[in-house]
Amino acid sequence: MLLKLLILTTAVLTVTAQKNLAKFGTASQSSYFDVNKGNPVNAVNPPISNNFSVAICTHTKDYKIGDNKTAWWMFNISFGTAYITDISIYYRENFAHRMSGFKLYVANTTKIPPVGHLCYADPGSGNPNITQSIPCYQLGQYIIYYDDKGSTDENVYYGPIVELCYVAINGCEKTFWGNNCSQSCSKNCIDQHCFPGNGSCVWGCNCTGICNAHCLDGCTENRTGLNCKKYNLATAGSVSQNSNSSQPSSQVNDGNFSSCSSIEGSTWIQIDIKKISIGTELFFIIDGMFDYISS
Ligand SMILES: *[C@@H]1O[C@H](CO)[C@@H](O)[C@H](O)[C@H]1NC(C)=O
Ligand SMILES: *[C@@H]1O[C@H](CO)[C@@H](O)[C@H](O)[C@H]1NC(C)=O
Ligand SMILES: *[C@@H]1O[C@H](CO)[C@@H](O)[C@H](O)[C@H]1NC(C)=O
Ligand SMILES: *[C@@H]1O[C@H](CO)[C@@H](O)[C@H](O)[C@H]1NC(C)=O
Ligand SMILES: *[C@@H]1O[C@H](CO)[C@@H](O)[C@H](O)[C@H]1NC(C)=O
Ligand SMILES: *[C@@H]1O[C@H](CO)[C@@H](O)[C@H](O)[C@H]1NC(C)=O
Ligand SMILES: *[C@@H]1O[C@H](CO)[C@@H](O)[C@H](O)[C@H]1NC(C)=O
Ligand SMILES: *[C@@H]1O[C@H](CO)[C@@H](O)[C@H](O)[C@H]1NC(C)=O
Ligand SMILES: *[C@@H]1O[C@H](CO)[C@@H](O)[C@H](O)[C@H]1NC(C)=O
Ligand SMILES: *[C@@H]1O[C@H](CO)[C@@H](O)[C@H](O)[C@H]1NC(C)=O
Ligand SMILES: *[C@@H]1O[C@H](CO)[C@@H](O)[C@H](O)[C@H]1NC(C)=O
Repeated sequence: MLLKLLILTTAVLTVTAQKNLAKFGTASQSSYFDVNKGNPVNAVNPPISNNFSVAICTHTKDYKIGDNKTAWWMFNISFGTAYITDISIYYRENFAHRMSGFKLYVANTTKIPPVGHLCYADPGSGNPNITQSIPCYQLGQYIIYYDDKGSTDENVYYGPIVELCYVAINGCEKTFWGNNCSQSCSKNCIDQHCFPGNGSCVWGCNCTGICNAHCLDGCTENRTGLNCKKYNLATAGSVSQNSNSSQPSSQVNDGNFSSCSSIEGSTWIQIDIKKISIGTELFFIIDGMFDYISS
């Protein structure tokens, strides 16, 4: 039982062990509390805690009643697009009511109100946790904490205020995955784009030959197609043809698109798939010169 628990814990840790992208990029925010006070960069620098002061947390300007403003904090990842897995937020202690109703986005533009993927919207009823880990599997360049809901402090109404004491943005830059993002995504992944947690291609494989589900080594022998999701009925078959080839005829059904059987003249090729099967499509690669095909 103990062993089982240990394995489970390790698995959970591995999933969230990409890297903190907040170390690579620049932070900005909608307004400043005061000159050099509550600067946006404070959110990505330690200490990692809810302890508050304008020297170690961000703080946008206080908007009082009648103001109709929104407040935001934004991070621009220097790598360009990155695959975000989760975002951790340490908010100001005892001020959760100011966080109420916030929204967290991953976006490709700096537009405000944000245009992008909404990772989380606080329901705005009751106080949010002042420390949160928000999962958000999404590709993008900008992380935006956005607030358009004000709050009441000791009977004084304030417009939205953003105070962040620490933010960790976990994920990997595009084309990398794994612990500390130390592994390269397979070149066979479309756009060399894979999930940070397991290296599987996000948009499937684009192999000129053979590939397995991770696009790393090759499809298991009788698989084929994008992401190896189809069975190749020809694999188990035997090939015959009516004229000799300079290459063995087995190169017709070996699943390797660049090894071919080469034949000339009036000819035919037959593949005996050895059992009665239902095929859904036929896929040929014909390379080189031919004069005509007649029927
Ligand atoms: C937070 O503040 C408390 C005292 O209020 C202090 O004991 C603690 O070390 C501080 N934590 C960090 C990470 O600075
Ligand atoms: C704030 O602006 C929004 C959008 O322009 C508007 O719908 C709302 O009535 C305004 N609120 C106040 C208090 O001015
Ligand atoms: C975001 O950072 C990148 C790389 O540092 C930079 O090229 C780009 O201009 C920045 N975006 C904005 C809106 O400043
Ligand atoms: C950002 O752009 C990439 C393509 O470059 C796209 O796959 C991704 O979904 C976009 N992210 C958002 C949040 O719109
Ligand atoms: C807030 O904290 C509670 C208790 O730790 C947890 O169950 C809940 O999921 C948290 N909510 C968020 C949004 O992080
Ligand atoms: C993560 O990788 C970077 C280089 O990409 C390296 O500088 C850093 O030490 C590594 N961190 C860990 C914990 O392995
Ligand atoms: C697949 O790879 C081929 C050859 O490298 C390329 O021409 C094609 O555009 C790629 N397709 C996709 C969807 O990436
Ligand atoms: C890899 O991770 C992604 C995102 O969590 C998931 O959708 C996918 O099913 C995983 N692939 C495998 C082969 O486990
Ligand atoms: C593919 O190969 C696997 C493992 O050898 C086998 O179990 C399965 O029946 C084969 N499928 C087809 C359609 O040939
Ligand atoms: C085909 O190969 C066989 C055996 O190697 C040979 O006897 C025959 O002459 C060849 N036929 C042609 C058309 O080259
Ligand atoms: C596919 O065939 C080509 C040409 O014969 C060869 O160079 C390559 O190594 C083969 N690939 C595999 C995975 O066997």
